[in-house]
Amino acid sequence: SKQQNDDPFRPGFHFSPPSHWMNDPNGLVYYEGEYHLFYQHHPYGNQWGPMHWGHAVSQDMVHWRHEPIALFPDEHGAIFSGCCVVDWNNSSGLFEGSHGLVAIFTHADTCPKTGQPRQRQSLAYSSDKGRTWHKYEGNPVLTESDLIDFRDPKVFWHSQSERWVMAVVAGDHVRFYGSKNLLEWSLTGEFGHREGSHDGVWECPDLFELPIDGSGRSKWVLIISIGDHPDVPEGSRTQYFIGEFDGNTFINDNPADHIQWLDYGRDNYAGVTWSDIPDVDGRRVIIGWMSNWKYANETPTGDWRGAMTLPRVLSLISRDEGILLTQRPVREMEQLRKESKSWNAILITPEAPFIQKMQDELLEIEAEIDVRSGSEIRMKIKSSGQSETLIGFDPERQWLYIDRTKSGATDFHPSFPCNHGAKLVSEDGIIKLHIWLDRNAIEVYANDGLIAMTDQIFPDAPLDQIEISVKAGQDVLNSLHIHTLNPILIP
Ligand code: FRU
Repeated sequence: SKQQNDDPFRPGFHFSPPSHWMNDPNGLVYYEGEYHLFYQHHPYGNQWGPMHWGHAVSQDMVHWRHEPIALFPDEHGAIFSGCCVVDWNNSSGLFEGSHGLVAIFTHADTCPKTGQPRQRQSLAYSSDKGRTWHKYEGNPVLTESDLIDFRDPKVFWHSQSERWVMAVVAGDHVRFYGSKNLLEWSLTGEFGHREGSHDGVWECPDLFELPIDGSGRSKWVLIISIGDHPDVPEGSRTQYFIGEFDGNTFINDNPADHIQWLDYGRDNYAGVTWSDIPDVDGRRVIIGWMSNWKYANETPTGDWRGAMTLPRVLSLISRDEGILLTQRPVREMEQLRKESKSWNAILITPEAPFIQKMQDELLEIEAEIDVRSGSEIRMKIKSSGQSETLIGFDPERQWLYIDRTKSGATDFHPSFPCNHGAKLVSEDGIIKLHIWLDRNAIEVYANDGLIAMTDQIFPDAPLDQIEISVKAGQDVLNSLHIHTLNPILIP
């Protein structure tokens, strides 16, 4: 279409703002039949600036309707990241006997006394399903005057201790506060000064309990995003911890130097999960900002900038290496499938690659590959111009990688063109890949979501061909499914 030609990187099935700048997802909550997605938004430019909360609403986390801006900067500053909860029992007293939504976010301004940046936690509330918002008169509700970095509150109801719990980051650690009414908070614990990765400032915490697949037991998961640092080539990324939450603080199951990454791509940051997805479903769904502070302000899109990852269900599985988080796109994504083609038992040799021509399609690819021969297998995604993005697996090194050095526009930042990967162990000689290909991004899930890799790409022309090949030896594609997808048609 005309619009697509004018705006070649506008995603077909990932969420992007109608115009201007977007970063973190905020205020993710399910309420009265709607999923809400608020986001860090600068509505007057396509680079980061004074933060507002943009807003979109969905019934399935796939199709979104844009709503007017929800929160504007005010006398306490800009509106940084935060969350929403449903105050079902009117514990805050803000809803006159009924219930409603409370947004808990960071107000960011400059301290008039010290001239230093100041970050304080505040509230806003809505009685009309998130359409209009009132800032709480007593804002800010939580200040710590000795902290410069103090932001991104995530709040949930902790039934065992019958109170609200807030996880909020303080530079190099996360703090936990408790409250009966969302208005008054007291510190209950701290975690992380010396645990996990400190490659950058800690941001955007999330904390929740998840069952361990098939075991009847459960664990707590603490998610921490870590900001960009000039010495860290990977830029901003997200780690997670597995452990317990005793109502006051988080207790790590693993040694302090153990690091677990949520995603091995370069473009999944500030991810947090939805509050209040109904119990019948019981899913824990995360969505992340599909960019990286290393180059986020320079990506070659038009008057808009920034997109979200696919919404993904998080689960825990128990392995020899420990308890691990897995991720899979929500099943609602299946409704986008347009046409599906399947193949079985394809032998790939240097003389016989698998080639499928495509014309400007959005794709979902599922492959089960027998790699017992030890030959490195590569899937090339080519444009009708010069661009190619490579997904490879080397059985010898047990290494799954994405190479985006030739993926199209890459020279807007020296850190963008790169080849990066993750250890992936084949199971009974087999690896499984689930790949999502949009106009601005590629998401790769391996072995049922054990590894996720999310990368932006900016091809020079529409998708033209998929090519699966080996340089030497042979591999077998036990099965291959290619689904073309309908766009979600926003904005
Ligand atoms: C993470 C972050 C948050 C902050 C927001 C500001 O990407 O830096 O820590 O609240 O973005 O836009």
